[in-house]
Amino acid sequence: MNTYRHLEIHPIAGALGAEIRGVDLSRPLPDEQFEEVRSALHEHLVIFFRDQNLTPRQHVEFSSRFGELLEVPFVRALDGFPTILPVMKGKAEKTRRNFGGLWHSDMSYSEKPPLGSALYGRVIPPYGGDTMWANMYRAYETLSDRLKQVLDGLGAVHSAVRSYGAGGAVVNNGDPAHKMDVRTDERASSEVVHPVVRVHPATGRKALYVNSTYTLRFDGMTQEESEPLLQFLYQHAARPEFTCRFRWSPGSLAVWDNRCTQHLAMNDYDGFDRELHRTTISGDRPVPASRTLQ
Ligand SMILES: [Fe+2]
Repeated sequence: MNTYRHLEIHPIAGALGAEIRGVDLSRPLPDEQFEEVRSALHEHLVIFFRDQNLTPRQHVEFSSRFGELLEVPFVRALDGFPTILPVMKGKAEKTRRNFGGLWHSDMSYSEKPPLGSALYGRVIPPYGGDTMWANMYRAYETLSDRLKQVLDGLGAVHSAVRSYGAGGAVVNNGDPAHKMDVRTDERASSEVVHPVVRVHPATGRKALYVNSTYTLRFDGMTQEESEPLLQFLYQHAARPEFTCRFRWSPGSLAVWDNRCTQHLAMNDYDGFDRELHRTTISGDRPVPASRTLQ
Protein backbone atom coordinates (compact mmCIF):
# COMPACT_ATOMS: atom_id res chain seq x y z
CA MET A 1 0.00 0.00 0.00
CA ASN A 2 1.26 3.43 -0.90
CA THR A 3 1.19 6.19 1.66
CA TYR A 4 -0.53 9.41 0.67
CA ARG A 5 0.26 12.81 2.16
CA HIS A 6 -2.19 14.87 0.15
CA LEU A 7 -5.20 12.57 -0.29
CA GLU A 8 -7.67 10.61 1.82
CA ILE A 9 -8.21 7.16 0.24
CA HIS A 10 -11.11 4.81 1.04
CA PRO A 11 -11.19 1.50 -0.87
CA ILE A 12 -14.72 0.38 -1.79
CA ALA A 13 -14.02 -3.32 -2.49
CA GLY A 14 -11.28 -5.90 -2.03
CA ALA A 15 -10.43 -6.26 -5.72
CA LEU A 16 -10.26 -2.65 -6.93
CA GLY A 17 -11.78 0.79 -6.56
CA ALA A 18 -11.21 3.59 -4.05
CA GLU A 19 -12.94 6.82 -3.18
CA ILE A 20 -10.71 9.85 -2.83
CA ARG A 21 -11.89 12.53 -0.42
CA GLY A 22 -10.82 16.03 0.38
CA VAL A 23 -10.11 17.15 -3.18
CA ASP A 24 -11.80 19.92 -5.19
CA LEU A 25 -11.32 19.15 -8.88
CA SER A 26 -12.78 22.44 -10.09
CA ARG A 27 -9.39 24.06 -9.39
CA PRO A 28 -6.01 22.91 -10.71
CA LEU A 29 -4.43 20.45 -8.26
CA PRO A 30 -0.85 21.16 -7.17
CA ASP A 31 1.57 18.81 -8.97
CA GLU A 32 2.44 16.80 -5.85
CA GLN A 33 -1.25 16.19 -5.15
CA PHE A 34 -1.96 15.23 -8.76
CA GLU A 35 0.95 12.75 -8.69
CA GLU A 36 -0.70 11.09 -5.69
CA VAL A 37 -3.96 10.87 -7.67
CA ARG A 38 -2.03 9.11 -10.44
CA SER A 39 -0.44 6.75 -7.87
CA ALA A 40 -3.89 6.01 -6.45
CA LEU A 41 -5.12 5.16 -9.96
CA HIS A 42 -2.22 2.75 -10.44
CA GLU A 43 -2.83 1.18 -7.02
CA HIS A 44 -6.65 0.99 -7.06
CA LEU A 45 -7.31 0.88 -10.89
CA VAL A 46 -10.50 2.95 -10.61
CA ILE A 47 -10.86 6.00 -8.38
CA PHE A 48 -13.94 7.99 -7.45
CA PHE A 49 -14.47 11.60 -6.40
CA ARG A 50 -17.88 12.60 -5.05
CA ASP A 51 -19.71 15.93 -4.84
CA GLN A 52 -17.65 17.66 -7.52
CA ASN A 53 -19.08 20.66 -9.30
CA LEU A 54 -17.47 20.65 -12.73
CA THR A 55 -18.22 22.53 -15.92
CA PRO A 56 -17.41 20.62 -19.12
CA ARG A 57 -14.25 22.72 -19.40
CA GLN A 58 -13.12 21.82 -15.87
CA HIS A 59 -13.81 18.15 -16.59
CA VAL A 60 -11.61 18.41 -19.70
CA GLU A 61 -8.88 20.29 -17.83
CA PHE A 62 -8.64 17.78 -14.99
CA SER A 63 -8.76 14.65 -17.14
CA SER A 64 -6.23 16.01 -19.64
CA ARG A 65 -3.58 16.00 -16.91
CA PHE A 66 -3.44 12.21 -17.36
CA GLY A 67 -2.71 12.59 -21.07
CA GLU A 68 -4.04 14.00 -24.31
CA LEU A 69 -7.80 13.51 -24.74
CA LEU A 70 -9.21 11.56 -27.69
CA GLU A 71 -12.14 12.34 -29.93
CA VAL A 72 -14.28 9.20 -29.91
CA PRO A 73 -15.48 7.81 -33.27
CA PHE A 74 -19.11 6.87 -34.09
CA VAL A 75 -20.73 8.85 -31.26
CA ARG A 76 -21.66 12.54 -31.52
CA ALA A 77 -19.70 14.62 -29.02
CA LEU A 78 -21.09 17.29 -26.73
CA ASP A 79 -21.68 20.56 -28.62
CA GLY A 80 -18.54 22.67 -28.42
CA PHE A 81 -16.53 19.91 -26.66
CA PRO A 82 -15.19 17.43 -29.21
CA THR A 83 -13.47 15.35 -26.50
CA ILE A 84 -16.59 14.93 -24.32
CA LEU A 85 -18.74 11.89 -25.08
CA PRO A 86 -22.22 12.26 -23.58
CA VAL A 87 -23.47 8.88 -22.33
CA MET A 88 -27.23 9.29 -22.18
CA LYS A 89 -30.44 7.30 -21.96
CA GLY A 90 -33.84 8.96 -21.78
CA LYS A 91 -36.75 7.82 -19.65
CA ALA A 92 -38.75 6.84 -22.74
CA GLU A 93 -35.93 4.87 -24.36
CA LYS A 94 -36.09 1.15 -24.77
CA THR A 95 -32.77 0.33 -26.37
CA ARG A 96 -31.72 -3.03 -27.77
CA ARG A 97 -28.53 -2.74 -25.80
CA ASN A 98 -27.49 0.22 -23.74
CA PHE A 99 -24.17 1.94 -24.32
CA GLY A 100 -21.40 0.08 -22.48
CA GLY A 101 -23.80 -2.68 -21.42
CA LEU A 102 -21.41 -5.61 -21.86
CA TRP A 103 -18.00 -6.02 -20.24
CA HIS A 104 -15.34 -4.12 -22.16
CA SER A 105 -12.25 -1.99 -22.08
CA ASP A 106 -12.96 1.31 -23.85
CA MET A 107 -11.98 1.41 -27.52
CA SER A 108 -9.84 -1.73 -27.44
CA TYR A 109 -10.60 -1.83 -31.18
CA SER A 110 -8.14 1.02 -31.79
CA GLU A 111 -4.43 0.64 -32.54
CA LYS A 112 -3.54 2.65 -29.49
CA PRO A 113 -6.38 2.07 -27.04
CA PRO A 114 -6.97 4.72 -24.39
CA LEU A 115 -4.99 4.67 -21.16
CA GLY A 116 -8.09 5.56 -19.22
CA SER A 117 -11.43 7.31 -19.12
CA ALA A 118 -13.02 9.87 -16.80
CA LEU A 119 -16.79 9.70 -16.41
CA TYR A 120 -18.70 12.49 -14.69
CA GLY A 121 -22.26 11.99 -13.45
CA ARG A 122 -24.76 14.75 -14.29
CA VAL A 123 -28.25 13.17 -14.22
CA ILE A 124 -28.52 10.00 -12.14
CA PRO A 125 -31.65 7.84 -11.73
CA PRO A 126 -33.05 7.43 -8.18
CA TYR A 127 -31.94 3.81 -8.30
CA GLY A 128 -30.06 1.67 -10.81
CA GLY A 129 -27.56 2.69 -13.49
CA ASP A 130 -24.56 1.59 -11.41
CA THR A 131 -21.25 0.86 -13.12
CA MET A 132 -19.12 -2.22 -12.36
CA TRP A 133 -15.40 -2.64 -12.91
CA ALA A 134 -13.28 -5.80 -12.85
CA ASN A 135 -9.56 -6.21 -12.08
CA MET A 136 -7.72 -7.77 -15.05
CA TYR A 137 -4.48 -8.25 -13.10
CA ARG A 138 -6.45 -10.46 -10.73
CA ALA A 139 -8.11 -12.23 -13.66
CA TYR A 140 -4.71 -13.10 -15.12
CA GLU A 141 -2.98 -13.98 -11.85
CA THR A 142 -5.65 -16.49 -10.83
CA LEU A 143 -5.26 -18.64 -13.98
CA SER A 144 -3.19 -21.81 -13.90
CA ASP A 145 0.49 -21.41 -14.78
CA ARG A 146 0.14 -23.49 -17.94
CA LEU A 147 -2.78 -21.44 -19.25
CA LYS A 148 -0.88 -18.23 -18.42
CA GLN A 149 2.00 -19.48 -20.58
CA VAL A 150 -0.35 -20.26 -23.46
CA LEU A 151 -2.08 -16.88 -23.25
CA ASP A 152 1.24 -15.00 -22.93
CA GLY A 153 2.05 -16.11 -26.47
CA LEU A 154 -1.31 -15.30 -28.09
CA GLY A 155 -2.71 -12.26 -29.83
CA ALA A 156 -6.39 -11.46 -30.27
CA VAL A 157 -8.27 -9.62 -33.00
CA HIS A 158 -10.35 -6.66 -31.82
CA SER A 159 -12.92 -4.70 -33.83
CA ALA A 160 -15.77 -2.26 -33.28
CA VAL A 161 -17.97 -4.13 -35.77
CA ARG A 162 -20.42 -5.80 -33.38
CA SER A 163 -21.13 -2.49 -31.64
CA TYR A 164 -20.74 0.09 -34.40
CA GLY A 165 -20.95 -1.83 -37.69
CA ALA A 166 -24.10 -1.73 -39.85
CA GLY A 167 -26.87 -3.04 -37.58
CA GLY A 168 -24.43 -2.92 -34.63
CA ALA A 169 -25.73 -3.22 -31.09
CA VAL A 170 -25.58 0.48 -30.22
CA VAL A 171 -26.02 2.12 -33.66
CA ASN A 172 -29.16 4.26 -34.04
CA ASN A 173 -28.21 6.50 -37.01
CA GLY A 174 -29.49 9.62 -35.31
CA ASP A 175 -32.97 8.23 -34.55
CA PRO A 176 -34.59 11.00 -32.44
CA ALA A 177 -36.07 8.35 -30.12
CA HIS A 178 -32.52 7.99 -28.75
CA LYS A 179 -30.71 10.71 -26.86
CA MET A 180 -27.31 9.56 -28.12
CA ASP A 181 -26.45 9.90 -31.79
CA VAL A 182 -24.46 6.80 -32.80
CA ARG A 183 -23.64 6.16 -36.46
CA THR A 184 -21.64 3.52 -38.21
CA ASP A 185 -18.84 4.28 -40.67
CA GLU A 186 -16.06 2.39 -42.46
CA ARG A 187 -13.81 2.42 -39.40
CA ALA A 188 -16.18 -0.03 -37.67
CA SER A 189 -15.04 -2.98 -39.76
CA SER A 190 -11.28 -2.54 -39.34
CA GLU A 191 -9.46 -5.12 -37.22
CA VAL A 192 -6.45 -4.79 -34.95
CA VAL A 193 -4.40 -7.43 -33.13
CA HIS A 194 -3.47 -6.89 -29.47
CA PRO A 195 -1.68 -9.23 -27.07
CA VAL A 196 -4.07 -11.35 -24.97
CA VAL A 197 -1.89 -10.52 -21.98
CA ARG A 198 -0.47 -7.02 -21.81
CA VAL A 199 2.18 -5.57 -19.54
CA HIS A 200 1.10 -2.36 -17.84
CA PRO A 201 3.69 0.28 -18.73
CA ALA A 202 3.60 1.95 -15.31
CA THR A 203 3.28 -0.99 -12.91
CA GLY A 204 5.01 -3.71 -14.96
CA ARG A 205 2.20 -6.14 -14.02
CA LYS A 206 0.50 -8.48 -16.51
CA ALA A 207 -3.21 -8.05 -17.22
CA LEU A 208 -5.70 -10.05 -19.25
CA TYR A 209 -6.73 -8.00 -22.29
CA VAL A 210 -9.65 -9.66 -24.11
CA ASN A 211 -13.25 -8.53 -23.73
CA SER A 212 -16.64 -9.76 -24.92
CA THR A 213 -17.58 -6.49 -26.63
CA TYR A 214 -14.65 -5.95 -29.00
CA THR A 215 -12.58 -9.16 -29.15
CA LEU A 216 -13.52 -11.32 -32.17
CA ARG A 217 -11.08 -14.27 -32.04
CA PHE A 218 -7.49 -15.26 -31.32
CA ASP A 219 -5.04 -14.16 -33.98
CA GLY A 220 -4.34 -17.04 -36.37
CA MET A 221 -7.35 -19.11 -35.24
CA THR A 222 -10.92 -19.34 -36.47
CA GLN A 223 -13.77 -17.90 -34.46
CA GLU A 224 -15.01 -21.44 -33.72
CA GLU A 225 -11.60 -22.47 -32.41
CA SER A 226 -11.33 -19.32 -30.32
CA GLU A 227 -14.80 -19.16 -28.85
CA PRO A 228 -14.64 -21.80 -26.06
CA LEU A 229 -11.49 -20.38 -24.49
CA LEU A 230 -12.62 -16.78 -24.97
CA GLN A 231 -15.95 -17.54 -23.30
CA PHE A 232 -14.13 -19.14 -20.37
CA LEU A 233 -11.90 -16.05 -20.05
CA TYR A 234 -14.88 -13.65 -20.15
CA GLN A 235 -16.65 -15.57 -17.38
CA HIS A 236 -13.50 -15.87 -15.34
CA ALA A 237 -12.69 -12.16 -15.72
CA ALA A 238 -16.14 -11.20 -14.42
CA ARG A 239 -16.04 -13.32 -11.26
CA PRO A 240 -17.79 -11.29 -8.55
CA GLU A 241 -14.74 -11.23 -6.28
CA PHE A 242 -12.72 -9.49 -9.02
CA THR A 243 -15.23 -6.62 -9.26
CA CYS A 244 -16.44 -3.46 -7.59
CA ARG A 245 -19.70 -1.64 -8.10
CA PHE A 246 -20.24 2.10 -7.91
CA ARG A 247 -23.49 3.83 -7.00
CA TRP A 248 -23.51 7.14 -8.85
CA SER A 249 -24.72 10.44 -7.50
CA PRO A 250 -24.79 13.75 -9.39
CA GLY A 251 -21.30 15.28 -9.22
CA SER A 252 -19.43 11.95 -8.98
CA LEU A 253 -16.37 11.48 -11.17
CA ALA A 254 -14.89 8.03 -11.87
CA VAL A 255 -11.43 7.72 -13.44
CA TRP A 256 -10.33 4.26 -14.51
CA ASP A 257 -7.37 2.57 -16.11
CA ASN A 258 -8.46 0.77 -19.30
CA ARG A 259 -5.17 -1.18 -19.45
CA CYS A 260 -5.94 -3.34 -16.43
CA THR A 261 -9.73 -3.18 -15.95
CA GLN A 262 -12.97 -3.86 -17.75
CA HIS A 263 -16.29 -2.24 -16.94
CA LEU A 264 -20.01 -2.61 -17.53
CA ALA A 265 -22.97 -0.23 -17.32
CA MET A 266 -26.07 -1.65 -15.61
CA ASN A 267 -29.24 -1.03 -17.63
CA ASP A 268 -31.75 -1.39 -14.80
CA TYR A 269 -33.38 2.06 -14.69
CA ASP A 270 -36.06 2.10 -17.39
CA GLY A 271 -38.35 5.09 -16.95
CA PHE A 272 -35.60 7.42 -15.69
CA ASP A 273 -33.13 9.73 -17.37
CA ARG A 274 -29.39 9.13 -16.99
CA GLU A 275 -26.63 11.36 -18.34
CA LEU A 276 -22.91 11.19 -17.78
CA HIS A 277 -20.01 12.80 -19.63
CA ARG A 278 -16.93 10.80 -20.57
CA THR A 279 -13.49 12.00 -21.53
CA THR A 280 -11.09 9.44 -22.98
CA ILE A 281 -7.34 9.64 -22.33
CA SER A 282 -4.97 8.53 -25.09
CA GLY A 283 -2.72 5.53 -24.54
CA ASP A 284 0.00 3.46 -26.19
CA ARG A 285 0.07 0.25 -28.18
CA PRO A 286 -0.29 -2.61 -25.68
CA VAL A 287 3.00 -4.23 -24.68
CA PRO A 288 2.88 -8.05 -24.98
CA ALA A 289 3.86 -10.34 -22.12
CA SER A 290 5.89 -12.47 -24.53
CA ARG A 291 8.73 -10.95 -26.52
CA THR A 292 8.04 -13.30 -29.40
CA LEU A 293 4.65 -11.69 -29.93
CA GLN A 294 4.64 -8.42 -31.85
FE1 LIG B 1 -17.04 2.05 -21.52
